[in-house]
Amino acid sequence: MDGVIVKNLYKSYEGQKLDRDYVLDNINFQVKKNEFICILGKSGCGKSTLLNLLAGFIKPDKGEIYVSDKLVKEPSVQRGVVFQEHGLFPWYTVLENVEFGPKLSGKKNANEIARNLISMVGLEGYEDKYPNSLSGGMAQRVGIARALATNPDLLLMDEPLGALDAMTRDNMRNELLKIWKETKKTVILITHSIPEAVYLADRVIVLQEGNICCDEKIEIERPRDVHSDKFLEYTKMFEDILLDAN
Ligand SMILES: Nc1ncnc2c1ncn2[C@@H]1O[C@H](COP(=O)(O)OP(=O)(O)O)[C@@H](O)[C@H]1O
Ligand SMILES: [Mg+2]
Repeated sequence: MDGVIVKNLYKSYEGQKLDRDYVLDNINFQVKKNEFICILGKSGCGKSTLLNLLAGFIKPDKGEIYVSDKLVKEPSVQRGVVFQEHGLFPWYTVLENVEFGPKLSGKKNANEIARNLISMVGLEGYEDKYPNSLSGGMAQRVGIARALATNPDLLLMDEPLGALDAMTRDNMRNELLKIWKETKKTVILITHSIPEAVYLADRVIVLQEGNICCDEKIEIERPRDVHSDKFLEYTKMFEDILLDAN
């Protein structure tokens, strides 16, 4: 299968302060190629743990993750990761930051790849700027371009818009959808914002105390109107589910 398979996944941490045995307790789901998934849940429910497992940064206690039929064992260029804090190299320019991955994997056309991606995320003309001269939204665009530069099968994002102000965040939501359409990547995006999940996702998976409590397709045409009845129905449904989790 081209997408993602998560099978019987368990994860605990040494010294975890929880009233359950596992931070993630038997997680199972699949993601189709090109699908845009949002994983929604309250703080502490295990979202970042799941993302770090998908990225291969940490190992599960039990269970497996397959991306494009390959077992995830460690970080790989097959999976691009974007965090809430952009994590760009401050001593590199925008261009050098985006070139870094493809150069490392020996790509002769790293420069061209990087320039194309910088243009796609709307930062043409900023190639020679340093990260500290960029706004939060711009830096996050560079982070996304960098994550895409190795042409990964899967783009993983952990609250990528969480640190941005409301207006920038709204713009970036549309920007993310545009990038997704253009690159046709499979996307798994973590968020604790219900409207963000309903606006972006093909499917929303809700995590609650280490379990998947809801896996729901969002059947609204894009671009989505956040004031439409359907949009509000979905937000209300997820609100009820998350309130129930108390
Ligand atoms: N390295 C760690 N050691 C011990 N406990 C951890 C560690 N990382 C996360 N946890 C615990 O696991 C739970 C889930 O954390 P996390 O995956 O970061 O949740 P989320 O991203 O949904 O806020 C929390 O209770 C957190 O305290
Ligand atoms: Mg988190």
